[in-house]
Parts: sequence; C-alpha cells; structure tokens
Amino acid sequence: MRLALLGCGTVGSEVVRLLHEQSADLAARIGAPLEIAGIAVRRVGRDRGDLPVDPALFTTDPLGLIKRDDIDVVVEVVGGIEPARGWLVEALRAGKSVVTANKALLAEDGAALHDAAAEGGADLYYEASVAGAIPLLRPLRDSLHGDRINRVTGIVNGTTNFILSAMDATGAGFAEALEEATELGYAEADPTADVEGFDAAAKAAILASLAFHTRVTAADVHREGITEVTAADVASARAMGCTIKLLCIAARGADAAGRETVSVRVHPAMIPLTHPLASVGDAFNAVFVEAEAAGQLMFYGRGAGGAPTASAVLGDVVAVARNRLAGARAASESAYADLAVRPMGEALTRYHISLDVADRPGVLEAVAGVFARHEVSIATVRQGPAGGGPAGRGSDAELVIVTHVAPDAALAATVRELRGLDIVGSVTSVLRVEGGQ
Ligand code: NDP
Ligand code: HSE
Repeated sequence: MRLALLGCGTVGSEVVRLLHEQSADLAARIGAPLEIAGIAVRRVGRDRGDLPVDPALFTTDPLGLIKRDDIDVVVEVVGGIEPARGWLVEALRAGKSVVTANKALLAEDGAALHDAAAEGGADLYYEASVAGAIPLLRPLRDSLHGDRINRVTGIVNGTTNFILSAMDATGAGFAEALEEATELGYAEADPTADVEGFDAAAKAAILASLAFHTRVTAADVHREGITEVTAADVASARAMGCTIKLLCIAARGADAAGRETVSVRVHPAMIPLTHPLASVGDAFNAVFVEAEAAGQLMFYGRGAGGAPTASAVLGDVVAVARNRLAGARAASESAYADLAVRPMGEALTRYHISLDVADRPGVLEAVAGVFARHEVSIATVRQGPAGGGPAGRGSDAELVIVTHVAPDAALAATVRELRGLDIVGSVTSVLRVEGGQ
C-alpha cells in the first residue's frame, strides 16, 4: 500500500513517526506493507529534527504526487480550504482513498468531497477531524446507525478547553494560556479559529451531519468564541457551583408546523460542577451522545496534539487500506434526512445575567418587568454589593439573575432592554447555562 502524505507539521510528523515505529504491526494488520511514497510540504529545506524518513521523499508538488499511478492512499494533514479541496477532489475522483484531518474543509464543503468519493468509488475517512484521538465519527457513522440520535453535546476544542481550565484552576490570564496551548501544538495555524469558535463550529457541523443524516455546514452553526469570557465570569460561575466550557450542542427539534429540524450551536456556557463535562480539563475533549435506544454515551480523550491526532489518522489509514485490499469501499455519506436547520433565536436556552443596578425601591420590580415583557421566567435572583457601575448613576448593588429555559431571541431581547434602563449601571456578564434542570 503506497501512501502520499500531504503535510508534515505537528500531525504529519507524528504520522511519519508512528508509521516507522509500527510498520511491522501495521503491515500484519492490513495484510500488506504500508510505505510512504512521498511527502508534500511547503518548505523542503525545513529542519525536521530526527524524523525517521528519507529526505528524498519531500516535494513541494502535492498534485504531482497525488497523480502518480503508484499512490493508493492520500493522507491530508495540511489544513485550510484551498488548495486542499482541489487536491482531495482530484485524488478521490481518481479512485484513491483519502484520509484527512481537515475539519475546516469538511465543514465548508464536505459535499464536494463526498460527491468526488462517490464519483471515484473511493473511501473518504476523517476520524481525526473531530476530537483528535477519540473514536467518535466511526461510532456515529457505523455503530449507531441502528439507533436514532437526539442530541450531541460536547467539548470539541482542546485549545479553548486548555485556556478555560487554566483560567478556572490557576487564575491564569487568557493570553498566557493561549501561548502555552500554541507551544504544545494544540492550536490551529491561526489560533483565532480556536478562540473565536470557528474550529468548534466546523466540528459541530461534522457531528451534526453524521448524527442527523443531514448536510450541515459551518455556516449553519451559531458560533460564539471565548474571547469575551472574563475572570469575573469565571468567578461568577464558581460562586454558582459551575464552571465555564465552550460547548458544541447539536439537537433535534421541531418548527412551528411540527416539522423536524436540527439546531447546531457553539458558545461558552456555565455548567454545574457536578456535570460530567465539568471535569474535562486541559486539552481533553468529551462528547455526550444521547440516542433513543442506547441512552447516554460519553466519549472522552485527547482532542488535540500531534501524536493523539496521528493515532486517529493511522486508524483510518488501516481501515481504507484493508478496504482497498478487499476491493471494497465503506458506505457512502448518509444525508437522506435533509432536515432544516433552525435559527439560533428559536433555540431553547437559559441565561445567567449579572447587572450593576441602583439600590433603591422599585428597581427589582422594574428589572423583573423587563423579563416578564419578553415572557422569560426568572428562576433565581441574588442581590449583593455592587461590582462597580458608572459614576453618577447610583449603581450600588449587583443583581445576579438565572432564568428558566426560553427562546434565545427572547433572552437576547431582554438583555438589550436591560442595558437601556436608567437604573442599570451596566450588564456585567451574560452567559448561557446548560446541563442543569
Ligand atoms: P501544521 O501547521 O503543523 O502543519 C501543516 C503542514 O502542511 C506543514 O508540514 C506544511 O509544510 C504543510 N503545508 C502548508 N501549506 C502547504 C502547501 N501549500 N503545500 C504543501 N504543504 C503545505 O498543521 P497541523 O499538523 O497542526 O494540522 C494539520 C491538519 O490537521 C489541519 O487540518 C488541522 O486542523 C488538523 N488537526 C490538527 C490537530 C492538532 O492538534 N494540531 C488536531 C486535529 C486536526 P512545512 O512543514 O514545510 O511548513
Ligand atoms: N486546534 C484544535 C483544538 C486541534 O485545539 O482542538 C484539534 O482539532
């Protein structure tokens, strides 16, 4: 089995290392030796340390490598939309099996890859694209195909989980924690993709597509990152017996006419410390799957980093290599359900809102009136000393309000109106709350 490796960075170099260290075992498992026929990179002359590979294999011509007649499997660990899309479409149409970790591309235009795979009769595997080392996509696309999945909730970005865990546990600053996550090889080439939630949104789209048999793209996912989560938010969560996580939530629902829909969102949220996802720290990922017959399943493990991701890539390589030897191909994409994606405003959520207000009669009534006007029910109210409102507005108390479940649009409108009230010095924190009653 001859393999073209596109990319030899954090993940690619570990693919090379593992292939070298385990070549005999991999050959035995596949039933044929596995050989790297070429490695496409951007800079052939780059120092790659003691990587166990013949330097003559490096090339800056990925397309030339893919088109070679002796290539059976193309492994893409470069990332980004173009030129990766062109390479993979070319390989799949030519009937070569493709293994990729490129969630950005799968979420932007997975359809192009699936269509090319169907056209070329080739395999397209992408286990490493979501939650690193965790076997998650294969269970969704194979093991759970006899069941009906209702909801997927997870922590799917290692970098942001590393940052939030550090802010919570040690009080570390955002910038310092991001720098460490980048040094450890967790962050994307442009870490904005991590901290602004783009990476998690891409993974959410892939998960929702598989779970609900529907093509969901990154553009369908409501996305908020963690750049606005402050130390005060983290402390506020602690005071409530909660922690803050960047969650991806994909769920079935129904529209006003009763037609089945899906909603897919990524945003920071407070979850109770007793929730199993609360103890997922460092760069670990965890994903809860709720299925009709299976009930609750939880998948946990390393979601980022060279070696963990390479483990998932190699698992796929073994699978596609076996298929080729058997003259077989995995089942095609399953998108028959074609459910509509519901707008975020209709998603049912709960909010935790902190505001600095004037401490005088009638204030609580006025604040409660805003919630009532938007038909948002208040679950708890706590009043304490002010966090510090603007001078001259008499802000001298802090109100912390947690709501019951309501449509997100109603909650957002409530916050907008609160911000305009005279008696409100400032709305200091707005966070969604998940995983409670
Ligand atoms: P890196 O930036 O570390 O490596 C990218 C590699 O691609 C480098 O070897 C680079 O070459 C090569 N490359 C870049 N542009 C080109 C080009 N135009 N032509 C040929 N080669 C090119 O990325 P990662 O290894 O971190 O990530 C790779 C993929 O895996 C991405 O899709 C990422 O989202 C995904 N992924 C990453 C995880 C992680 O933890 N890092 C986890 C899960 C998925 P050179 O070496 O010469 O610079
Ligand atoms: N940057 C990604 C993360 C890599 O931090 O989760 C794994 O997909």
